Amino acid sequence: MTETLFTNISQLVTPGVGVQRGAAMRDLTVIPDAAILVSGGVIRWVGPRADAPASAQEHDLGGVAVVPGLIDPHTHAVWAGDRLADFEARISGVPYEEILARGGGIRSSMRATGAASVEDLVTLARPRLKALRASGATTTEVKSGYGLDFHAELRMLRAARALQGEFQLAPTLLIHVPPTEGRAAYVQAVCHDLIPTVAREGLATAADVFTEREAFTVEETRAILQAAKANGLQIKLHADQFHAIGGTELACELGALSVDHLEASGPAQIAALAASNTVATILPGVTLHLGLPAAPGRALIDAGAAVAVGTDLNPGSSPVFSTQLALALAVRLCHLTPAEALTASTVNAAAALGLQGRGALAPGQRADFLTLHSADWRDLPYTLGASPVSAVFVGGTLV
Ligand code: NIG
Ligand code: FE
Repeated sequence: MTETLFTNISQLVTPGVGVQRGAAMRDLTVIPDAAILVSGGVIRWVGPRADAPASAQEHDLGGVAVVPGLIDPHTHAVWAGDRLADFEARISGVPYEEILARGGGIRSSMRATGAASVEDLVTLARPRLKALRASGATTTEVKSGYGLDFHAELRMLRAARALQGEFQLAPTLLIHVPPTEGRAAYVQAVCHDLIPTVAREGLATAADVFTEREAFTVEETRAILQAAKANGLQIKLHADQFHAIGGTELACELGALSVDHLEASGPAQIAALAASNTVATILPGVTLHLGLPAAPGRALIDAGAAVAVGTDLNPGSSPVFSTQLALALAVRLCHLTPAEALTASTVNAAAALGLQGRGALAPGQRADFLTLHSADWRDLPYTLGASPVSAVFVGGTLV
């Protein structure tokens, strides 16, 4: 097997392998004048250049900093239509929840997405996934959830599957908003028809529910998540975005991989997350775009929780096409330190997806890494509005 030794790395920066909780999120390893040995897409060795094993092929990275590839654990990158009218309405004062209650918002994206073919959805999603990858995301979660009916939900997941060869994707079935009539029957059909179909066809690895006043109740969520678990899917949740109605506590009780949003979480939800193995995924793009309170990232880490960061890329609440920007916003809006933000965007984001073997620069991990324009890795959390990422390597190959 060909071995490549990547050299001329000003700083190699990595969190520890596997999920990191609380203060451990700040423990980065920084190796000056480093090298990485890769073969078969996997890291075999990292360390100071002076100690590197002899290798046939050398790749000079140009004296810049190297960090792990980012992992974006929460996106809705597959959609059709736009939400530009919603944006103008919101800017003139109409709340997001009111637009949704009137049949707009997520429901308007459902109408447009429901009318699109798998091919249309692939064509629309590809440039979004390319933008996320150019910003540093080497693994990206993609949710369904804009399907007007089950056929449309399956088309969204098939679009994600079609893009799997070009990108490393983690597909999630999202049960997003209930129909305006017949919601009990809808929940039953989700549990007994949609979830088994998705699990049987291997179209998603996890199921997610939007638990909120304008979406699903805690009891509806419980039924859906239990059906997902019974069908072998992992579970996660959108909870506490506008109101803390009990979704976070339920997710922790059921052993969810992650609870995402948390803008309205208070001490009880923070304590529940800190006492669980469920990752707290914060989405600062939503705070920026909707003007919501920020999720309590600082308090979650201080309480001992494992925090991850995602873009929540979607047309309505977070048109953020950069995973690096989400990391940078987590520092400003949720008060993570730069080191915590890197951990949140790498190993903890992998844990939020139930993925092992990626997110850190260590032997045995996938060789997914980024070079920066800068010799100092702190330009990654620092830079706003331009990309500090100069090149993206997936499995040791430049993409
Ligand atoms: O994660 N909050 C619910 N779902 C998405 C928003 C989707 C949309 O507005 O289209 C979110 O923010
Ligand atoms: Fe979301």
